[in-house]
Amino acid sequence: MTKTGRIQFDEWADLYAQRVETMRTSAVRDLFAAASRSDIISLSGGMPDIRYLPLDEVGEVVKRAVIEEGIAGLQYGDTRGREETKKVVIRLMRDLDIKVISENVTITAGGQQALNLLGEIFINSGDNIITEGPTYLGALQAFSAYEPVVHTIEFDDDGMRMDLLEEKLQELGPRGAKFIYTIPNFQNPGGVTMSLERRKRLLELARAYETVVIEDDPYGRLRFEGDPVPCLRSMDDEVIFVGTVSKMFAPGLRTGWVLAPTPIMQKLNMVKQGNDLCGSALNQVIVEHYFNDTDWQTTMGKMRDRYRVRRDAMLAALEEFFPPEAKWTHPQGGFFVWVTLPKYVNTPQMLSVALENGVTFVPGDGCYPGGSGKGMSSMRLAFCYEEPEALREAIRRLSLVIEDRLELYRAFISAGALKEQ
Ligand SMILES: Cc1ncc(COP(=O)(O)O)c(C=O)c1O
Repeated sequence: MTKTGRIQFDEWADLYAQRVETMRTSAVRDLFAAASRSDIISLSGGMPDIRYLPLDEVGEVVKRAVIEEGIAGLQYGDTRGREETKKVVIRLMRDLDIKVISENVTITAGGQQALNLLGEIFINSGDNIITEGPTYLGALQAFSAYEPVVHTIEFDDDGMRMDLLEEKLQELGPRGAKFIYTIPNFQNPGGVTMSLERRKRLLELARAYETVVIEDDPYGRLRFEGDPVPCLRSMDDEVIFVGTVSKMFAPGLRTGWVLAPTPIMQKLNMVKQGNDLCGSALNQVIVEHYFNDTDWQTTMGKMRDRYRVRRDAMLAALEEFFPPEAKWTHPQGGFFVWVTLPKYVNTPQMLSVALENGVTFVPGDGCYPGGSGKGMSSMRLAFCYEEPEALREAIRRLSLVIEDRLELYRAFISAGALKEQ
């Protein structure tokens, strides 16, 4: 659109690469503009609630970063990241029983850059990759630039279904899939966590079918209840692990990391040079000071408590307001609940009505590869950003929109025109 609101003809249309034709913008990013209206309650974005960060402490950290290490921080740095930042990462990884040395760590611009780099080094156009279905739409966006065929594997309450994964691997054969991408803890968008038994099976299957496992774990430290399940990378050091400070500290610093075996890391660092030369050294210095010099565990503990209260508020509101035909997951941590409605309900169509009613969510189809037609009756609800009362109100508003659709559905069922789903 131009400033005058007219649709602008794209005179460059025939110059773009094919790959951008198949890429979609993120429905969530597009929604951020609408969600910033003050009357709208947002259940769409997975934003950490940094309004509660101790900004005075962070301010001290930033000041010291500039005054004490500004010369290094404001200069170009190593493509692989600062050694001091890697030391922080190695320590954070040790808490998860992951043993890794500096050579196998690269600091990236958030987990997102790591996913993009992994796509770049592994995927040729037409290659098979496997993800959970639904999965993190940012990963789908990152991978889709390299034009893979994305095979999605359903999850249940114990995470990705290994029977379906095995079937898929059998179909594709050994080395038939470039990688299996998984978010084992409090999956985005599902909220489910992969059981230990399934994690072991996943590693066995990946070995048997000679494929790589990418473990993406932004939410692992946001567990509200239950015992932590060991990371895949702690059980197998050939697993590629992607981490980030976004949910532990601040996404605005765009600092994440990837752990990988040496040969893979060499390729990744090579493409990273062309990608960004190096990440922001200043942001890395800030991250180092934050994790070395502040009581970040206490701050995170408080955040976690807040997220738990919000999760509880959302689950209670779902029980109270949502119709009996709706099913949803019960996350033990993280940011998201995944709701499944009868197939008759089309959530992408519902979104504009929900917006008019003052609430946003992510329609499920955006969490599947484009054109798959899956997820049309599901939605991702984020409980991380709104206060409990607002969450309750949002679910109430949403339930009214759903109820409208379901009335029609029930009428069809009772007239025998539709089978119950
Ligand atoms: C599963 C998953 N992976 C990766 C990311 C990327 O996070 P960042 O680039 O901020 O580290 C996100 C962000 O929401 C996510 O949910």
